[in-house]
Amino acid sequence: KADLRTRRIGRNLIFKDRIPSTNELALNKLNSFSHGDIILTDFQTNGKGRMGRNWQASLGKSIALSIVLKPAIENKQAVLLTQLTAAALSKAIDQITHSSIKWPNDMIVNSKKVAGILTESHFSGSSLEGIVIGVGINTNMSTEDIDNNLRSKATSLLIETQKIVDPNSLITSFIQWFDELYSSWELTNDSSPFISICKEKSILMNREIIVRSGEMNRPGKVVDINPLGELIIKYAGQDSLESLQTMDFSIRG
Ligand code: BTN
Repeated sequence: KADLRTRRIGRNLIFKDRIPSTNELALNKLNSFSHGDIILTDFQTNGKGRMGRNWQASLGKSIALSIVLKPAIENKQAVLLTQLTAAALSKAIDQITHSSIKWPNDMIVNSKKVAGILTESHFSGSSLEGIVIGVGINTNMSTEDIDNNLRSKATSLLIETQKIVDPNSLITSFIQWFDELYSSWELTNDSSPFISICKEKSILMNREIIVRSGEMNRPGKVVDINPLGELIIKYAGQDSLESLQTMDFSIRG
């Protein structure tokens, strides 16, 4: 169990030896968890990624955790919570090696992904019962542990640094950053402390991207991340700016 002196987030850390998906457990048993509880494992057998994808885990060599939040907030702030998490995670990974953020949820080291975030909301009827923030980190995977077809895009902290990662200190640092950013946001309603981290570390800022939505490909340039955590884009041939919440898109160039 990690040594945590945080206020509320992570005070209750539930370690599972083996579990299909920490997010699924949190969502299915939401009533049995309290605000700030964290479910943690290094043995996740059926992890979920964004957009219905699988999240590959190397058993005993990666971290999977879910933070349960039962906030009195609107669901549209889920995108903002993903940015808060990205800022906390990136700061924690920085203690091992320099990391960047690919909006909205990818942690990047040396141009490859080392960690991802999956934020899911749970409703009963139309009322929001809770938000579950899932974090998966490739800590001590070797190249052979990463699927052949993912090797050009995915990596681990061990592969990039040649040093074994201590999962306890990484988790502790992440939770402390998360707790600090969350408490201050709760108190002040000001997202700028973590949005500024996201902007500083963003690999998309000022880059040309193509936003894919369905069959449409729209070229544009990323100009900002706004206080709601949305990407602000200037599309080619258009004067006004548009905001993007999470969506499928690819980078050009
Ligand atoms: C992504 O990059 O597509 C998001 C990956 C999120 C994976 C984490 S691991 C802990 C939590 N439980 C899951 O089943 N998924 C998330």
